[in-house]
Parts: sequence; C-alpha cells; structure tokens
Amino acid sequence: TKATRALRGRLLWFVGDPETMGEAAHAYVEDGLLVIADGMIAAVGEAAALLPTLPAGAEIVDHRPHLIMPGFIDAHLHMPQTQVIASYGAQLMEWLNTYTFVEEQKCGQQGHPEKLARFFLDELLANGTTTAVVYCSVHPQSVEALFLESERRNTRMVAGKVMMDRNAPDALTDTAGSSYADSKALIARWHGRGRQLYAITPRFAITSTPEQLAAAGRLAAEHPDCHVQTHINENQGEIAFTRELFPDAPDYAGVYEQYGLLGPRSLMGHCIHMTKREWRAFAQARAVAVFCPTSNLFLGSGLFDWARARREGVPVAVATDIGGGTSYSMLKTMSEAYKVLQLQGQSLQAFAALHAITRGNAVALKLDHLIGSLEPGHEADVVVLDPAATRAMAHRLETVRDLAEELFVLVTLGDERNVAATYVMGERVAPT
Ligand code: GUN
Ligand code: FE
Repeated sequence: TKATRALRGRLLWFVGDPETMGEAAHAYVEDGLLVIADGMIAAVGEAAALLPTLPAGAEIVDHRPHLIMPGFIDAHLHMPQTQVIASYGAQLMEWLNTYTFVEEQKCGQQGHPEKLARFFLDELLANGTTTAVVYCSVHPQSVEALFLESERRNTRMVAGKVMMDRNAPDALTDTAGSSYADSKALIARWHGRGRQLYAITPRFAITSTPEQLAAAGRLAAEHPDCHVQTHINENQGEIAFTRELFPDAPDYAGVYEQYGLLGPRSLMGHCIHMTKREWRAFAQARAVAVFCPTSNLFLGSGLFDWARARREGVPVAVATDIGGGTSYSMLKTMSEAYKVLQLQGQSLQAFAALHAITRGNAVALKLDHLIGSLEPGHEADVVVLDPAATRAMAHRLETVRDLAEELFVLVTLGDERNVAATYVMGERVAPT
C-alpha cells in the first residue's frame, strides 16, 4: 500500500460535456484537496473539509494557486515521427515519402525505438499528457520498446504496430500474414498488461492490400476490446489514390466498413473531406473522428468541421498527430483548434477545449471509467498548471475577470511552460 498523498490547489474537472450541459458540466473547487491512495483518487473536495480526514503521515503537496486537472489525453500521434516534426514544404503523400518513410526505417535499428520511447514519454509527461494513442512503426520491436518504457513509468498507453504491405519502401513493409501474426502476438503479450492497451493499426487504405485490411478486420473481430486506429479523408491526393486502389468501394469509409474496421472503438484520424454518406456511416458505427488541428494546418490538409460532426452525431477526439502535427502540447493543440473553427464561423469555449483533452477524449476512447476525471475511483493521473507561467500570460491575467476568461487565456497562450507538475498514478513524474 502506497502512503496517502494529497494535492492542494484549484481543482477543475468535468462531469459532462459543456456543449450539452453548459456550466453544470464542470466542477471547480477554489481551495480544493485531491486525496490519492494506492495510485487512485480516493477523495476530492474542499480542503477545509478533507484535511481533517487525512490519515496520520499523509503527505500534503501544496500547489496553490495552481490549477489541478486530470492528465491530458492525446488520441493520435506517431512515436517514430519525433524526428520528422517540422519537415519543410510538402503535403501528405510527398511528406510521407520524402520524410516519414525514411525516418520510420530507423526503428529497425537496434536501440533506436528504445531511444525514441524514452524521449517520447519524457516529452508527453512534460506537456502534461498522461495517456496517448500511439502509432509505432511497422517493426514489432517499436511497440515492445514503447510498452516496456511505459510499463516502467506506469503510464497508460494505447499503441500498436503499423500494418503496411504496399506503397511504401521494402524496409517498411510487412505482409498480410506477418502483420496479423505480429499484431496477434503483441496483443497476447501486452493488451491489458498493467496499464497498457493495444490498438490494431492498419496505417491507411493506401498502404494495405485488401488481404491485409481483411487480416486487420479479423484481428478486430477476434479482439473486440482492442481499439482500431487508422487515417481517413485527410488530403485530396490521398482520397483520389484510395479511390483508384478500391474502385468497388462506395467511398473511403466504405473501404474500412467492408473490412470490419469501422466500429465503436475505431479512432479515425483527420476526417476532413467527408461525404454525407461517410458521416452517416460513422454515426451508425459509432466510430470516432479524430481532429488533429496542428497537423491539418501544417500539411495544408484542410479544416475539420466539428459542428458538422456534432450535427451528424459522430463522436470526436482531439490529437496532436506528431510529426505531421507541430506541438506536443494539448493546450497548443486546442488553441489551433479554436482558430480552425474560427475560420468556419464556429467557436470553442475554454471549458469545451479543456473538456476535450481530458474527459472528452477519455469518453471517446471508452476509458472514462479509468482516466480523464478527478472523481474518486479514477486513476490519479494529474496535471498541475500555472496559468501565469510566462511573462505575457501573467501580464494578461492582470485584466482577467472570471474563471472562464482565465482558462481561455490558458488555452490560447498555454504550452508546456504552464505545466508545473505531472503525476502518474499519484507519483510525480515531471518536471524531472
Ligand atoms: N496518413 C497515413 N500515414 C500518415 C501519417 O503518418 N501522418 C499523417 N498525418 N497522415 C497519414
Ligand atoms: Fe497520423
């Protein structure tokens, strides 16, 4: 049994979606206490009420006046692309061929995925991200490296081996048979071991033969509690190529549907250029559209229509999509999301943005019983935020009138400089 630890500060978390519940969706305690026992949240509420209830010897960490929130969740990013981030001058297909498929080959070298995994988790935790849904490379050892490092740090990661058997360099391709067998072995070894979870990961329709998509669909049917992650409708060139490769499918989503890859645990990256039928297929399947604002802007892919997703009844998650994306920070990601929505006459309140990167993503991943909240019974993954960490932010905060305005400044100007501390299962892991 780990000793009780209590974090004191301004507690903020969500009990529902601000989009439908408004003010009732968030819980805020100005002088709050978060009580942690055995890595789990044991109690939450007013410090004055909870302090007398702490067992003798409990450690109290005073984070006042900082905000204490559930650790951030990133629903889509690529571990092998940490050295692809900020590659100049190309849209999706050229970017993949020129930069990404070159860099991802290095994961076949002894020691490289281990080095990436250490950097990757250091960087996520420094940004307050405690759970991420991760594409590794085609090499099973890249998944092994990430899960081993994540297990060592006790973080909850969802990850998978990329399946790709065509339209990529030989050194980066598997086969329908080997990708099935390798994924199956990784699921047996890692899915549900400690906090690690497996995501079946066919990269996208272009890099998989019909046989491989069928194999991925078979895995999904055999392991209905695993997530499925892939890319869809990101770029016009990608969509045209997919149409050529799958002339019999009604559309891009139809390809994934046909192979049993569109379901309630499917995390579909991008979803920018969607037809009416595709939105409907997503809604029927309860598939999740993953909004990757910095990537969609950086690669010139287009503007994700969040209001449309909502109208169509399609669940949405948000993500950095490193290394098409340009920031590890979920705060920065939401600030770019705000601008993407502004360009479409939509808006995004601070509460909605902070909900999206905590409880919202947890709900989309169907992990909201475990993460994304400060309610008792949840895993004690926590980020402590200093909204005045930078000179410009401290200066701006002088004129702030209420919590909503303060949080909007945090979302708009914030990044990893605002992360005062990150806790995983109640243990402080950043800054290191
Ligand atoms: N589509 C297929 N692979 C990728 C990738 O690595 N990044 C992005 N942004 N889109 C993709
Ligand atoms: Fe991606």
